[in-house]
Amino acid sequence: MTGANKGIGYEIAAGLGALGWRIGVGARDPQRRDAAVQKLRGTGADAFGVPLDITDDASVAAAAALIAEDAGGLDVLVNNAAITGAMPQAPTTLDPATVRTVVETNVIGVVRVTNAMLPMLRASASPRIVNMSSSVGSLALQTTPGVEMGPVPAAYLASKTFLNALTIQYAKELGGTGILINSGCPGFTATDLNGFSGTRSPAQGAAIAIHLATLPDDGPTGGFFDDAGSVPW
Ligand SMILES: NC(=O)c1ccc[n+]([C@@H]2O[C@H](COP(=O)([O-])OP(=O)(O)OC[C@H]3O[C@@H](n4cnc5c(N)ncnc54)[C@H](OP(=O)(O)O)[C@@H]3O)[C@@H](O)[C@H]2O)c1
Repeated sequence: MTGANKGIGYEIAAGLGALGWRIGVGARDPQRRDAAVQKLRGTGADAFGVPLDITDDASVAAAAALIAEDAGGLDVLVNNAAITGAMPQAPTTLDPATVRTVVETNVIGVVRVTNAMLPMLRASASPRIVNMSSSVGSLALQTTPGVEMGPVPAAYLASKTFLNALTIQYAKELGGTGILINSGCPGFTATDLNGFSGTRSPAQGAAIAIHLATLPDDGPTGGFFDDAGSVPW
């Protein structure tokens, strides 16, 4: 789990932990990571901390090595960590540095973590990858008359479109390997990401990732889903 210390990520960890899974709590801040691990253990979950900054090659490599050593492998990767980036993000005044920072975390970070974890996933019996995306990255919804998404930050929005494109490409390359990879949208959820303005609880937001993490072997791959079903690209 990346970004498992708070918000939706913490609730995904709690939900998978409640199923009896061993949970690697990926988080970059030691205090926040330790607090989340202790809280998860308090609920009975078998959680261990994984120091992880998804923008840092060495950190990601060390995380893969720690998981291999502590857990002996990896069955499911949930790419949950993301940032919105500095505001405002109207396209015409967008700072290129903001775009770069957002893409570095929300897209390149996912590629970095996924590729580092792939050898372990390939060795798993039922490997799954969940990319936490957002319906705001849906070009179809963005261009559907009557669909109102509000003033969504341009760099953040485009990073999720980019991520969705990668989900499709990974699914194509990994077809036939047993690895199922999908994008999920948690819905508008009250977390730090949006100043707790969301209308859904973090536990509700976590439900789609838990579903995609626990897909049966004949489940979908290369799809984009929320609680209601398929989300258009
Ligand atoms: N909330 C919503 O309404 C909503 C809607 C659609 C999609 N989503 C997606 O759902 C996912 C979870 O969002 P959230 O709302 O739970 O956000 P959040 O509460 O802000 O949590 C984001 C998590 O990502 C971590 N993170 C950020 N950059 C990182 C890095 N470089 N390395 C490691 N961890 C990093 C954060 O760690 P720190 O504590 O160290 O910052 C935190 O644990 C994101 O992918 C988001 O885009 C959210």
